[in-house]
Amino acid sequence: MITTPTILLVEPTFYDVSYSINPWMDPQAWARDPRGMHRSASRAFDALHDALRLSGFTVELAPGFPGVPDMVFPANAAVVLDGRAVLARFRYPQRRGEEAPFASIFESLRQRGLVDEVMQLPAGCYQEGAGDCIWDASRGHFWAGFGPRSSREAADAMSARFGREVVALELATEHSYHLDVCFCPLSGGDLLYYPPAFTDASLRELRARVPASLRIEATEDDLRHFSVNAVNLHDQVVMTRTTPHLRAELGGRGYHLREVDLSPFMLSGGGAYCMTLRLDRSSGAVNTARAAA
Ligand code: ARG
Repeated sequence: MITTPTILLVEPTFYDVSYSINPWMDPQAWARDPRGMHRSASRAFDALHDALRLSGFTVELAPGFPGVPDMVFPANAAVVLDGRAVLARFRYPQRRGEEAPFASIFESLRQRGLVDEVMQLPAGCYQEGAGDCIWDASRGHFWAGFGPRSSREAADAMSARFGREVVALELATEHSYHLDVCFCPLSGGDLLYYPPAFTDASLRELRARVPASLRIEATEDDLRHFSVNAVNLHDQVVMTRTTPHLRAELGGRGYHLREVDLSPFMLSGGGAYCMTLRLDRSSGAVNTARAAA
């Protein structure tokens, strides 16, 4: 397995917005100028790539495939921890065609020694990768979102596969269809999240585990900017162009923001985090910074 911060990106060659499986997706807006949109998407992708490298990541590039435009969101491809990857199973037929190409991408990552083992999910549940199963390095467990996409049972399956605690949170709205849209643990132990995305019981669970001083509540405006969907390494944060509220909140807590215009990908309901997949997450590397405060 690799131990340096490494992120998988999928090239946007075949990216478009041609169907709608979440309320942010806007195929009509894309269809008004597909060539122009595609050019903007390529530029936005390059800007994200640069921002990730400047933030300290090594970037692994994988090719996309025709007919499966949402492959540009590899956060949904798998959950990876300690060099072991569990491949996703998608809820919607529009994305199921990604499973075979991602399986071959992971097989070549394995052959090159970037991951050690590639595992399957047990039958009978959906699980949409690291978009719905987020490693919290400060607390040493996963948080799993369920409801709109991943199944509740997938959280237990992940716990069995990785031998780590998985705290399941039920998502209450289609706008927050993946956990990564509304929930982002940061390196200092801070948690950026959007409270209305969760059921009351899940909100209670979350608040019981994260003290108020570490909780950063995102506003609806922050959510609409896809700013909760952020990539974090130490004090570096990469996200879409954000709001004055989050600039002040995160800046005040010592984070350094790199903002990228990802609007062509927001048309598909995605931001920075879902365009990435960390390959080097390790259960041994627990941030102790302020999580216990
Ligand atoms: N159009 C994609 C979908 O609806 C966007 C996925 C974004 N990924 C994420 N992890 N939030 O599945």
